[in-house]
Amino acid sequence: MVNLSASRTGHLGSRIVSVASYRPRTEVGNEPIAALIDSSDEWIRRRCGIESRRRAAPDEDLVTMAAAAGSKALAGAGIDPHEVSAVLVATMSHRGRATTVAPLVADAMGATAAAAMDLGAACAGFPYALATADALVRSGAAGYVVLVGAERMTDIIDERDRSTAFLFGDGAGAVVVGPAPTCEIGPVVWGADGSRSEVLRYDEAGILRMAGPEVFRWATSVVPDVARRALDAAGISASDLAAFIPHQANLRITTATANALGLGPHVRVATDIVTNGNTGAASIPQAMAALPDTTGPALLVGFGAGLSYAAQVVTLP
Ligand code: UT7
Repeated sequence: MVNLSASRTGHLGSRIVSVASYRPRTEVGNEPIAALIDSSDEWIRRRCGIESRRRAAPDEDLVTMAAAAGSKALAGAGIDPHEVSAVLVATMSHRGRATTVAPLVADAMGATAAAAMDLGAACAGFPYALATADALVRSGAAGYVVLVGAERMTDIIDERDRSTAFLFGDGAGAVVVGPAPTCEIGPVVWGADGSRSEVLRYDEAGILRMAGPEVFRWATSVVPDVARRALDAAGISASDLAAFIPHQANLRITTATANALGLGPHVRVATDIVTNGNTGAASIPQAMAALPDTTGPALLVGFGAGLSYAAQVVTLP
């Protein structure tokens, strides 16, 4: 039989080389949002932990934010954009005329030799894309991969919708994934339940609509089990973790999951949502970038529309 991959050399493992975040310039507190939806600063803080979020200005479009985060991650890794072989963009808020946003992001970063594709798994998009990047690197299909989670949620939320207007924020987070002598990105545990997709969906105008309590109940029942399975797949226990970085959906979901996992006080639990809101596919890399002094194993869990979920353990860069 002919060997069709004679020229391809895979790698034993992959790792996150660097992480970076782009936060839009404008910070918005709860009061102006609450005024439009018969809510209050107190209710928003109590029900989801958010004190403020960033909102993109007209010049901070999705490509600009994604490329800024990606370029910063490349600079942090000391890697030239021409060395990048793939750019993956996880997003659910691309509304431009281009069919896919990743080629625009690659171009803006100067990654002219890279393959580029969008990855749509909503708020689970980052761990889905990380599993893809890990497989690309280990198979030899890619060397360095820039993986960006980016959202301009302002474009897809209704500022008068009581269940979403206060929750979401804009921004981008990025990692560079590259070859490593050992596996520093653990096995992914992932899945989806399309039979429940109606609880988080676009309406006819492309606006995101959410049945909040239903999504909340699903998340608190599914996420701890997915997290435990990712720990088992990596061959470690919760006590070995240095950090827990879940999708920043709601501080109450983060806290409930951390308690269900029995995380000790030594585990840093990401709470970026407090000042960043829920930034969809961007929330995990942004929260990772907000824990700069933490090294060692971190458990990532993404979940949301689809309904989709994915989790893996990684070594923090
Ligand atoms: O990122 C993708 C995945 N998304 C998520 O994981 C989000 C999951 N869902 C949630 O985080 C929560 O459901 C929300 C934060 C969106 C809403 O919080 P909740 O505690 O589930 O609110 P609820 O809809 O159950 O409403 C509870 C009460 C109701 O009042 P009564 O009937 O108890 O008097 C609502 O009318 O809060 C009221 N309420 C509000 N009050 C002030 C609902 N929305 C608001 C609001 N401001 N915006």
